[in-house]
Amino acid sequence: MAGIFYPKFPSILLVLCVLTLPNHSHALDEERKLYIVYMGNLDEKHESPSSHHFNILQEVVDISLVRQSLVRSYTRSFNGFAAYLTPQEQEKLADHEEVVSIFPSKTFQLQTTRSWDFMGFPENVHRNPTVESDTIIGSFSDKGFGPPPKKWKGVCKGGSNFTCNNKLIGARFYGSDSARDTEGHGTHTASTAAGNIVRDASFYGIAKGTARGAVPSSRIAAYKVCSARGCSSADILAGFDDAIADSVDLITISIGGTYAQELENDPIAIGSFHASHKGILVIQSAGNSGDQGSVGSVAPWIFTVAASTTDRGIVTKVALGNGSILTGKSVNSFKLKGTAFPLVYGKEASSPELCDEESAKECILNCLQDNLVKGKIVLCDNFKGRLEALRAGALGSIGQYEGDVSLVVPLPTSALTLHDFFAVESYVNSTKAPKVNILTSESIRNLDAPRVASFSSKGPNSIIQNILKPDVTAPGIEILAAFSADASPSEIPSDKRSVKYSILSGTSMSCPHVAGAAAYVKSLHPDWSPSAIKSALMTTAWRMDVKHNQETEFAYGSGHIDPVKAADPGLVYETVEDDYVKLLCGLGSDTSTLRKIFGVNFNCSEKLKANPKDLNYPSMTINLNTFRRSIPFSEKFPRTVTNVGRTNSTYKAKTSVSSDYSITVNPNILTFGELNEKKTFEVTISGKFNGNMISASLEWSDGAHNVRSPIVVYNY
Ligand SMILES: *[C@@H]1O[C@H](CO)[C@@H](O)[C@H](O)[C@H]1NC(C)=O
Ligand SMILES: *[C@@H]1O[C@H](CO)[C@@H](O)[C@H](O)[C@H]1NC(C)=O
Ligand SMILES: *[C@@H]1O[C@H](CO)[C@@H](O)[C@H](O)[C@H]1NC(C)=O
Ligand SMILES: *[C@@H]1O[C@H](CO)[C@@H](O)[C@H](O)[C@H]1NC(C)=O
Ligand SMILES: *[C@@H]1O[C@H](CO)[C@@H](O)[C@H](O)[C@H]1NC(C)=O
Repeated sequence: MAGIFYPKFPSILLVLCVLTLPNHSHALDEERKLYIVYMGNLDEKHESPSSHHFNILQEVVDISLVRQSLVRSYTRSFNGFAAYLTPQEQEKLADHEEVVSIFPSKTFQLQTTRSWDFMGFPENVHRNPTVESDTIIGSFSDKGFGPPPKKWKGVCKGGSNFTCNNKLIGARFYGSDSARDTEGHGTHTASTAAGNIVRDASFYGIAKGTARGAVPSSRIAAYKVCSARGCSSADILAGFDDAIADSVDLITISIGGTYAQELENDPIAIGSFHASHKGILVIQSAGNSGDQGSVGSVAPWIFTVAASTTDRGIVTKVALGNGSILTGKSVNSFKLKGTAFPLVYGKEASSPELCDEESAKECILNCLQDNLVKGKIVLCDNFKGRLEALRAGALGSIGQYEGDVSLVVPLPTSALTLHDFFAVESYVNSTKAPKVNILTSESIRNLDAPRVASFSSKGPNSIIQNILKPDVTAPGIEILAAFSADASPSEIPSDKRSVKYSILSGTSMSCPHVAGAAAYVKSLHPDWSPSAIKSALMTTAWRMDVKHNQETEFAYGSGHIDPVKAADPGLVYETVEDDYVKLLCGLGSDTSTLRKIFGVNFNCSEKLKANPKDLNYPSMTINLNTFRRSIPFSEKFPRTVTNVGRTNSTYKAKTSVSSDYSITVNPNILTFGELNEKKTFEVTISGKFNGNMISASLEWSDGAHNVRSPIVVYNY
């Protein structure tokens, strides 16, 4: 993204991430569960909504328990509270006339590939919150920044050891005792979006270069809604409640469930609906589940981001004693003293008393005999075996490839493809004293970039089938960005390294790239609506190479973001709140649910129910939804574009061509004589569907701007 002009307009970014130790000591009994008691829009009647919440709760909960039961009040952008309730209390509250809905609080995850489960370290991870550092302040130095913009209504309430400045202008925390980042996730995502420019940043010399956010002149406000247990609906909603009222410009939220939920039960969909009502665009990670249909961010008012590679990859070479060099994956900052070290297979370094052969081959925890691995490199069938190699005091480990990313490792380790792993195994089998070396990681050029990561959650959209998700893809693999010096870069407690920059992968990392790009577009067009900014980034996205991305649009949506082009898109597809409401009506939400959950007053009468394919969305998709294998089809997509390019301009429609389908656009020429003028047209795609997804496209061009929309017809 070289050569971007950074305007001085101060955008405020909100980052809902950052993890820390939990501080929940509820003396309440086990039977109670955390519920969100949602009361819709703020009510002018009650001067103090939180004492009103207390009073309502008191009607159903024993007076001695009310204070403990009430976890959180939402009083700034919408109305409601979170409370621990028994099933009986929950039922009683549901009947309360002021309560519009109650749903259980769920736990969401940070969407880095380095999640606890992935690491094989599920619980009781020891942390050191007292390690002193100045990373947050250091990477978010406010040199050259004036005071926060006038419209800013937030505060710096970061708790212990948290300082704000004119760059990091706000902080709040929920469900923990400080906004301090003990995990590194929040620092990393915030700096990707809006970090200052830092030359010669690297992780121990790996991936060296200039680290910078997309919009270095933007401000950051952090809302920490996660603890080590995950991120609860109750805390996520609290973050939205505050952020909207604090008047942030954009919200980037690298959090999600492992699968999509009905909109009524999805706190991020609800919170971001309120945000969009206030003109705030919400950018969310697609998720790291990888499978078809797993995309967890589904609402059309959210900007959903997949993760893909950049042209820089990180590899770790393994040199065998017979001269072969194999290229594996990991981020290995260590350099072993020497050139060749004894190599031992996990099963040879264990004993039947410790483990069965299969477990020993995988180097499962406590399988290795310390004295048999000392001074040696261990070969383990499983990449997680590195944790046992570390515990047993081995020099290093070699494992099998897991996913397509390089993870920061706590000792010299490389993950090999199955093919290369077998080569090492056969070398061990055929050699008396096998020797090996693991080299320090190096950067390589990824020739097939951008390629969507296998872990990046894919479409189709399981909740709103006729809205294409994810919307776009952005860099999310092996991303170097600022890190918290309080956190272990490999997430292994005994790895005491403290770094200012680290390398992470996940849709958590691609999400703030899009947030930064959106902030950049907004800084040039402060009056654009959230949907216009999103449309600009979608219609100008790069086409992705189908060869390297077999799931096509279900992997990357409209394509890879291009922030420079997005600043001048020519035309935009805009949606207003009414359009979303019609869509919700069309999905079967009844009038009262709409009023309750989304805080809008509307009557879902027949004629207003819209098919989601008709929403004025920058992409077009339809699920034919039939059991028949081979069927003729003909589908129409009505759309309206707004001219934001040249005053006098003529756009011609260009469509993809195939023997499987034909596309007509009516009219196929749009002539504009004014800025902000709107023109309506209809796209018809017809053909014969024979079981495969159809990937087509429409592109409006005036010679200077190319405004592209993917058209996807599928059958599930
Ligand atoms: C805050 O920092 C001080 C010294 O820098 C340290 O003594 C204290 O334990 C820290 N508190 C927390 C909660 O991290
Ligand atoms: C290595 O030898 C073992 C038997 O000791 C055998 O099961 C395994 O398949 C051999 N591996 C390779 C790659 O030759
Ligand atoms: C080293 O050994 C492996 C396994 O036997 C073999 O595949 C490879 O070709 C050998 N390399 C050289 C340079 O001989
Ligand atoms: C919604 O509109 C329909 C049709 O106009 C009307 O019959 C119905 O009473 C309205 N419902 C509400 C709750 O206003
Ligand atoms: C647009 O076209 C109209 C009519 O031809 C002309 O009067 C006007 O000056 C043009 N505007 C610009 C900005 O070129």
